[in-house]
Amino acid sequence: MKILLTGAAGQLGSELLPLLANHGEVFATDRGTPPSAPANWIQLDISDKEGLNVLLRRLQPELIINTAAYTAVDQAENDVDMAFAINAGLPEQLAHWANINDARLLHYSTDYVFNGEAQVPYRESDIPDPQCVYGASKLAGELVIREMGCDHVTLRTSWVYSSHGKNFVLSMLDLARRGLALKVVADQRGCPTWARNLARASVAVINAWKAFGTEERSGVFHYCDDRDLNWYDFAGCIFDLAVEKKLLESKPDLTPVPGSEFPQPAKRPGWSVLDTTLIGQAFDIHPASFTESLEIVMNEILQRELI
Ligand SMILES: NC(=O)c1ccc[n+]([C@@H]2O[C@H](COP(=O)([O-])OP(=O)(O)OC[C@H]3O[C@@H](n4cnc5c(N)ncnc54)[C@H](OP(=O)(O)O)[C@@H]3O)[C@@H](O)[C@H]2O)c1
Repeated sequence: MKILLTGAAGQLGSELLPLLANHGEVFATDRGTPPSAPANWIQLDISDKEGLNVLLRRLQPELIINTAAYTAVDQAENDVDMAFAINAGLPEQLAHWANINDARLLHYSTDYVFNGEAQVPYRESDIPDPQCVYGASKLAGELVIREMGCDHVTLRTSWVYSSHGKNFVLSMLDLARRGLALKVVADQRGCPTWARNLARASVAVINAWKAFGTEERSGVFHYCDDRDLNWYDFAGCIFDLAVEKKLLESKPDLTPVPGSEFPQPAKRPGWSVLDTTLIGQAFDIHPASFTESLEIVMNEILQRELI
């Protein structure tokens, strides 16, 4: 099987890349070329529609995994056209190509499609109501894929972190090491998700497609790890482990604050816990342990720093 993986240098893409090796011939693409780039790496600005069309025609992928995204949530408020080009225009182009060429598409979306006013975990059938440009652009991507009608799964996920890339875990460690007292938002709640668990869930989707086909296994599904937390509690877990593993000498001074103390350009959902029942029923995919995952990520950070 020929596989095209976009966003291959991102948090999710770089976790997926090694897992895909056994599934076919993988062509990885991103804006730049990392030093560790494997053979078949293609450097491409994916907003270049013609460049992407040429690539698709040349490669003829049977599976497209689109992890590329405009993920700078606040920046998107002032960069609306580019956010929509990457988060909605790109999925449209990929889904259109997949539909015509009988390829399958695996895509990703976000808890930020919801307004955060629910009291129970959001199901796939709940009505989205994004409150920011990023959320609206990701929702537009979901909808246009559905409209195109290709065989697809869109995995909605939340609060993605890993031992590399831009994420909350690495930002918190960085701030703590500068010796600053930290104020962390305590009135936004979601499910932190390790990028590798999301990558494993993606591979499980591909395996299920291979074994059972795509009928009844197409559409939007929620995947996140098994714990819901607010950002303040998440920071507490990070610092407890960081001290235990000697990544930090001591826990920083940590104060819970309301989100209103940190006015940000983009409005975030206050409560965006995702219900993962459906993906369990359709694919036998179940949330991985937050506690175990965070510990592995901290070990990876430690290993990297020891080199
Ligand atoms: N991160 C989260 O907390 C989170 C939460 C919920 C859902 N999601 C979704 O999960 C998926 C994976 O997210 P992630 O955390 O892995 O994102 P990420 O780390 O930001 O990776 C996205 C990758 O896409 C690349 N990209 C963006 N614009 C491009 C362009 N014009 N040309 C070529 N490459 C481009 C980025 O390159 P640059 O870095 O150079 O831009 C980056 O390598 C996305 O669909 C995202 O919306 C993420």
